[in-house]
Amino acid sequence: MMKPKDSRNAKGRGRIPRRDVLAGLAGMAVTGMAAPFILKNGLSEPAKAAIPFVYPTAPQPPADASVVDVTLTAKFRTRQMLPAPAGLSQIAGYDDKPEMMMIRLKQGQWLRAKLVNQLSEHTSVHWHGIRLPNAMDGVPYMTQPPVQPGENFTYAFRPPDTGTFFFHPHCNTVEQYGRGLVGTLIVEGDEKRPSDADVICAYRDWRLKPDGSFDALMTEKGAATAGTFGQVATMNGQPLPLRREVPANGDTRLRLLNLDLTRILEIGVEGAEAWVIATDGNAIDPVKLDSWKIGPAMRLDLLLRMPRQAGATVRVFNYFSPQPILLAELTAGKTQLDKPPFTPDLLKPANLREPKLDGAQQLPMRLSAASSQSATAPEVKLPDGEVLRIADALCLTPHTFWAINGQAWPAQGHDVLPPPLFKLAKGRSYVFEVANVTPRVHPIHLHGHTFKVLDSDRNTVVPHFADTTLVFPKERLRIAFVADNPGDWMVHCHIIEHQETGMMGFFRVA
Ligand code: C2O
Ligand code: CU
Repeated sequence: MMKPKDSRNAKGRGRIPRRDVLAGLAGMAVTGMAAPFILKNGLSEPAKAAIPFVYPTAPQPPADASVVDVTLTAKFRTRQMLPAPAGLSQIAGYDDKPEMMMIRLKQGQWLRAKLVNQLSEHTSVHWHGIRLPNAMDGVPYMTQPPVQPGENFTYAFRPPDTGTFFFHPHCNTVEQYGRGLVGTLIVEGDEKRPSDADVICAYRDWRLKPDGSFDALMTEKGAATAGTFGQVATMNGQPLPLRREVPANGDTRLRLLNLDLTRILEIGVEGAEAWVIATDGNAIDPVKLDSWKIGPAMRLDLLLRMPRQAGATVRVFNYFSPQPILLAELTAGKTQLDKPPFTPDLLKPANLREPKLDGAQQLPMRLSAASSQSATAPEVKLPDGEVLRIADALCLTPHTFWAINGQAWPAQGHDVLPPPLFKLAKGRSYVFEVANVTPRVHPIHLHGHTFKVLDSDRNTVVPHFADTTLVFPKERLRIAFVADNPGDWMVHCHIIEHQETGMMGFFRVA
């Protein structure tokens, strides 16, 4: 039974009588922390009927547009992840290839991606780091209806920026992403001089037991601390290290993506001088790499000149561990390129509006542990006319450990989304003063916007553009951006267990 249209308020957003919401929640399978994937069944019928919201819309590609079409079939697949005698693992993937799904576009092209949901619970796709129209952002109940089992949803957008991006679901993320639903999206067109090799290195761990079955993806201990770490490390879905032969004396571009749900990597290179040329896909004045930390969801593009002699190697390490871990090994091939001396001035500048710091409003954003109050508040009272939206058991957090500005994403049993953390005026510049008062590191991500990391009271910062940035314990980090993309946008920690236990909210640009 659909709600009649006249139940929408003046703003065009629906309001749902509380008793309907509770009737819907009562019918849901609500499961605990270590529940195996897909025991939660998404919406029950009454709740499914009660979604009269008007979601945002976005333009379709014009007839003469150059469009890249892809199909993402979210589905369980069996794969030999560990060598025999370990058994097959029940992973989730968007296609059947052993590597993770990789999409490449040229600047100016549209992507049209048809999501086919063959899981047993609802899903969506969030295009991480892309400044796209709100309707295409892939956040269920916020920007689109959840895509139910057996349903499809087509995303279409033209990325405004070049760079190294990725995509993943945005509900029950710890399970769906943790089981494998993730892929890379490269938008080409930023190179002034083409590199001689372009290598994607997408890192992630898997929570697998020695027999190949999945270990609990979320643990209470992990969610309340640094996260639950995987046991099996992979690059592009394959065992470490990634090995590639590239031209001797050629320029190799390495696109490093930290697609783990938890682990921080500290990237270092041995065997060649490497330069950082982009952060989260955005060009930066090249900085010589010493080592660089990338948290979950962060990307780092490097450029290096390979040695001249065939067989020489360049090695990429993770130094953020007791023993350095070899992530990738490049070998110089037999053909030696004849190149002018190496200069790392590769990329065209990022196509972003610089925030105006003079007179920009400064907004505090405090990362803290959840107070017991925010975890148990019976309901969020919204002033009349405020958006009241329903979420379901899949999108609610099972426990609450974390908060932003004292507000935790509603815990299980809550039936409405919280009010926005910030209301921003479209076109204005803002400075967020992110203060981390927890003993853990948090990679903080904003949807729909690219911000400039300005400075920190504890660490030296090379100012750079990003969509996700690490905030260390006791640190105050300032980021600035122009709020130029209208809509409701998520802001959250990208350690997925933190995100799903409270460290998530949204801001409104209007
Ligand atoms: Cu990749 Cu809301 O995140
Ligand atoms: Cu966090």
